[in-house]
Amino acid sequence: MSYNLLKGKKGIIFGALDENSIAWKTAERVHAEGGTFVLTNAPVAMRMGQIKVLAEQTGSKIIPADVTSQEDVENLVRESVEILGGKLDFVLHAIGMSINVRKARHYTDENYSFTAKGWDISALSFHRVMQNLYKADAMNEWGSIVALTYMASQRTFPDYNDMADNKAYLESVARSFGYFFGKEKKVRVNTISQSPTATTAGTGVKGFDAFINYAEKMSPLGNASAEDCADYTVSLFSDLTRKVTMQNLFHDGGFSNTGVSQEVIERFSEE
Ligand SMILES: NC(=O)c1ccc[n+]([C@@H]2O[C@H](COP(=O)([O-])OP(=O)(O)OC[C@H]3O[C@@H](n4cnc5c(N)ncnc54)[C@H](O)[C@@H]3O)[C@@H](O)[C@H]2O)c1
Repeated sequence: MSYNLLKGKKGIIFGALDENSIAWKTAERVHAEGGTFVLTNAPVAMRMGQIKVLAEQTGSKIIPADVTSQEDVENLVRESVEILGGKLDFVLHAIGMSINVRKARHYTDENYSFTAKGWDISALSFHRVMQNLYKADAMNEWGSIVALTYMASQRTFPDYNDMADNKAYLESVARSFGYFFGKEKKVRVNTISQSPTATTAGTGVKGFDAFINYAEKMSPLGNASAEDCADYTVSLFSDLTRKVTMQNLFHDGGFSNTGVSQEVIERFSEE
């Protein structure tokens, strides 16, 4: 069902790699709600991913950009405004990558050049994107910027590794930049703290299958899917949430406020 919530709104969607990506589902929902956008991803992901299919499906242009490159991001912002014919109303940052996780380096044995690279991609990039939007005055008033995060930023999930630290930084940037973007340009900035979701980035985390099942059993409403996340993001891009800013918004079926669930108690009673 669609409600034309984003009719006439324009934006940029980062991070659609394949049809499991949260950004992919979001692009589909934004399109269904009448929004138009540029799709972007790292040049290397263009070769692996199927982003062209999504671009055709949604009538979108693709602009490759490595989010760690100032030149790429600057160019992305400039070209997006040109292609879309004016300033932007929404931006989705759906980017995450830890080289330590990928190379199975334990948290207590980090390779710091991996750590720095992962931080640049996953966390600092959110500042870089916003700084470029801000300096280019590329956002319309009452625009909305959203980044995706995970609760390991506040509570320890051992296998989430250095991504936990990256997400803590990302959430802080949302608050800090949200202040200036709100004051100067009336633009809102929020992070959505999403349930574990079976995507390329998600399943890369060690023990993901057990973990997603545990979260499902702990959440009164069950895990939020990528499609659910897309719906929530649409609401944050819409005019119905204009005074929500600088927040980390849990979208997890209630997991974050559940101490223990009946299902988990029963599981432990069996022994
Ligand atoms: N999957 C989960 O369990 C989960 C839970 C909470 C939050 N998140 C967050 O959701 C976001 C989207 O991830 P996803 O789960 O859809 O996985 P995904 O693997 O589909 O998306 C991650 C994206 O980051 C892109 N990326 C990596 N390096 C980049 C670079 N240098 N420049 C530009 N883009 C780059 C990848 O190409 C990919 O498209 C991430 O921030 C992730 O941390 C995921």
